[in-house]
Amino acid sequence: MHTREKLIVGNWKMNTVSLAEAETLARGVLHGVEHIERITTVICPPTIWLVSLSHELPKLPHFKLGAQNVYSEESGAFTGEASPLMLKKLVDYVILGHSERTHIFRETISMVAEKVVSTLEHGFTPILCVGEDEPSDQPAAHMAQRLNHLVSELTEMELEQLVVAYEPVWAIGSGTPATPQYAETVLAALRHVTTPKTRILYGGSVNEQNAPGFLSLPDCDGLLIGGTSLKLKPFLTICQQADDVAQAAGHLSLHPHHS
Ligand code: PGA
Repeated sequence: MHTREKLIVGNWKMNTVSLAEAETLARGVLHGVEHIERITTVICPPTIWLVSLSHELPKLPHFKLGAQNVYSEESGAFTGEASPLMLKKLVDYVILGHSERTHIFRETISMVAEKVVSTLEHGFTPILCVGEDEPSDQPAAHMAQRLNHLVSELTEMELEQLVVAYEPVWAIGSGTPATPQYAETVLAALRHVTTPKTRILYGGSVNEQNAPGFLSLPDCDGLLIGGTSLKLKPFLTICQQADDVAQAAGHLSLHPHHS
């Protein structure tokens, strides 16, 4: 039985349109996961709220902030971007290569690959997204090839630090997730191009009903959640489900005082 620490990540996207709304949701999550200590919960609010949230929220070892994007360069003429140096004090995790960035904002594979290297160099844990546009007969080989392309320059240690999120684009925000069987074929193939220690997540229309089916897959180390991460109760239910799976697998609390 593997002992990779489970990770539940909430990607708020461009939602919570006021700081007050973001604070309410963030505090709700923090309060709800205070005693859910076998897993790490990460919330990724819009960049503009990160300064306030990172200063206001009490620090817990198993609750972290993430950014939804970052640029690869440290400073310069890059209008509209945030640098890794700016985000370093605020967050531990950064989502990279989300399909909304590659499709709507036309981020290329080489830009994403540069961001992976830069975020690792700056000490973040990157959450690197890959996913096919349409359901396919052979998603596993295709996704393994895409991931390999993105991470081929990384060392074994860097690959261990990386988190990969398999997010079939057709499942994102559609209400139709991949079946767990479909997802597992891809997750297992992604593991072959990473390491036994790399955490690999599933994402795409995850809710509290379908989450347990993914969390119990042998190669699924957690979930990347969009829409449902904006709904406090269902999101906390999923965190609890992940904690239950971790407990069944014999994982200890991540909280040094409570383990
Ligand atoms: P969804 O989004 O859970 O709303 O499908 C997932 C994502 O885009 O990360």
